[in-house]
Amino acid sequence: MTRFEGQVVIVTGAASGIGLGIARAFHDAGASVVMGDVREDALDQAQATFSDQERLACVQVDVRDAPAVAHLVATAEQAFGPTSVMIANAGIVPNASVLNMDVSAWDSVIETNLRGVFLSCQAAARSMVTHGTRGRIVTVSSIAHSHGRLGASAYCASKAGVVMFTKVLAMELAEHRINVNCVAPGVIEIPRRVSRMNEEFRTALLQAIPWGRRGQPDEVAQAVLYLCSPGAEYITGALLSVDGGYSTGWTHMPYSSPQL
Ligand code: NAI
Repeated sequence: MTRFEGQVVIVTGAASGIGLGIARAFHDAGASVVMGDVREDALDQAQATFSDQERLACVQVDVRDAPAVAHLVATAEQAFGPTSVMIANAGIVPNASVLNMDVSAWDSVIETNLRGVFLSCQAAARSMVTHGTRGRIVTVSSIAHSHGRLGASAYCASKAGVVMFTKVLAMELAEHRINVNCVAPGVIEIPRRVSRMNEEFRTALLQAIPWGRRGQPDEVAQAVLYLCSPGAEYITGALLSVDGGYSTGWTHMPYSSPQL
């Protein structure tokens, strides 16, 4: 397992779910970890789940707010030193059909999922360039970047935007030897989301995953750690699916002929 001792890792949306899994995996691997999230109470609860509070800090931040994101990076640096890794994970998933959607609902998804990723990456990249750090940045998109879902137009659009943003940022930061990559989780088991699924949707979902189960936050975290490890030095601008094969194709279709 790669170790991250001496590295300063910032994770946004770290109070629960995938972000918390990523923060924990980096912390277990020896990194100093700064967990940012808009929900202060949830951050406190998340922090309390770490048995070792060394190398750990929490900052309340709204990723839509540029000064707040700059403050997140500055706080991390004051606590532990220059930023080595930024994981732009914070995101929201409200559902509404286009016919019924308020403009404010559209704006809040795009502002959190796309503007928030831009601001988080920009603040970290500026710090890395200033300090001459050969850092790593990972954005969190979704299978929704390429697979539409009823009621999720804003979410799918935001996640497609994250993929292209990541590619261009990777081009721009290559001269500074900062790797920028993206993970696209499939269906990951987090308590908050699972409880909102109805049974029919859940059954259809599992049938569409060749691996036959949802993923766990730590399985996304391990992919993220790999992208931040020395072994991934030549990987930049890449999109790594972590989805049990969900994105392979028409997973719910039978063989075209019984002889096959
Ligand atoms: P989650 O709801 O547990 O975590 C998202 C975190 O982001 C929450 O703690 C929330 O408070 C925080 N957040 C929301 N708005 C924020 C803001 N403006 N500023 C700072 N923090 C904010 O959900 P989950 O599933 O862990 O989501 C994490 C990321 O993974 C999201 O970007 C999501 O779109 C993505 N994802 C999740 C999948 C899943 O199946 N759980 C599948 C594909 C992608």
